[in-house]
Amino acid sequence: MKVHVIGAGNVGGNIIRALAHANHTVTIGVRNPDKVSDLLTETGATVSQSAEGVDVVISTIPSAAAQDLLPTLGLAGKVVIDASNPLGWEGGPVHNPPEGFTSGAARLQALLPDAYVIKAFNTFGAEHSLITASAERPLDHLFAGDNAEAKATVSKLLSSLNMRPIDLGPLRNAATLEHLAVAWIHLAMPAGWGRGIQLAVLGG
Ligand SMILES: NC(=O)c1ccc[n+]([C@@H]2O[C@H](COP(=O)([O-])OP(=O)(O)OC[C@H]3O[C@@H](n4cnc5c(N)ncnc54)[C@H](OP(=O)(O)O)[C@@H]3O)[C@@H](O)[C@H]2O)c1
Repeated sequence: MKVHVIGAGNVGGNIIRALAHANHTVTIGVRNPDKVSDLLTETGATVSQSAEGVDVVISTIPSAAAQDLLPTLGLAGKVVIDASNPLGWEGGPVHNPPEGFTSGAARLQALLPDAYVIKAFNTFGAEHSLITASAERPLDHLFAGDNAEAKATVSKLLSSLNMRPIDLGPLRNAATLEHLAVAWIHLAMPAGWGRGIQLAVLGG
C-alpha cells in the first residue's frame, strides 16, 4: 500500500520502519525534513507534504497538533488513522479529551467530515510496532472507526505488519481505546511493569 505518515517521532519513526520492513511505499510529512534524513536512508521513505494518491494516512503527531494541521491537508475521502492520545500527567496518565468530545479521534472526525477516521496504534508503546515486525506472535491491535471499507483497509494494513486486527466497533469507542492507552501507560510506568507489556484479547 501507499502510506503517508505524519510525524516521525517515537510513534511515527517505528511505524515507518515497520511499514518499510513490510515493503509498503511510505511518504513522511514532517515540519523539519532535516531531522529525518537518517530515517529516509534507513527505510527508503521520502518526504512529502501531500497525501495525494495514498491509500492510508497515519497521523502520529500530538492530538492538539493533529486537530490544527490535518484539516489543512485536503484529506477528503482518505482513510486517516489517529495514533495520538490526548493525555495529561498527574503522577500517572490522565485522559484529557478536547472540550465537548469524548475522544481526540471524535474531535478529529468532526474536523474532517469527509475523511474516514480510525483510531489505532495508540494502545501500546511506540517501539512495539517495530518489535512486532519480527516477532513470533502477532500483536493484538485494537482499532475503532465508523466506515466498514476503511476498516477493511486498515485490517489489511495491520495484518501485513504482523498484527492481529481487532475491530472494537464504531468511532465512539475511540474513547475506550484512549482509556486503554491510560491503562497501558499506567501499568508500564507508574505501576512498574515496564514498556514490554502488551494488552491482549484471549479466549473466544
Ligand atoms: N510514545 C509512545 O509510546 C506512544 C504510543 C502510542 C501513542 N502515543 C501518542 O502518539 C503521539 C506522538 O507521540 P510520540 O511519542 O511519537 O511523540 P514525539 O516522539 O515527540 O513525536 C512527535 C512528532 O510530532 C511532530 N509534531 C509535534 N508537534 C507538531 C506540530 N504542532 N505540527 C507538526 N508536527 C508536530 C514532531 O515533530 P518535530 O520533530 O518537528 O518536533 C514529531 O515528529 C502522542 O499523542 C502520544 O500520546 C505515544
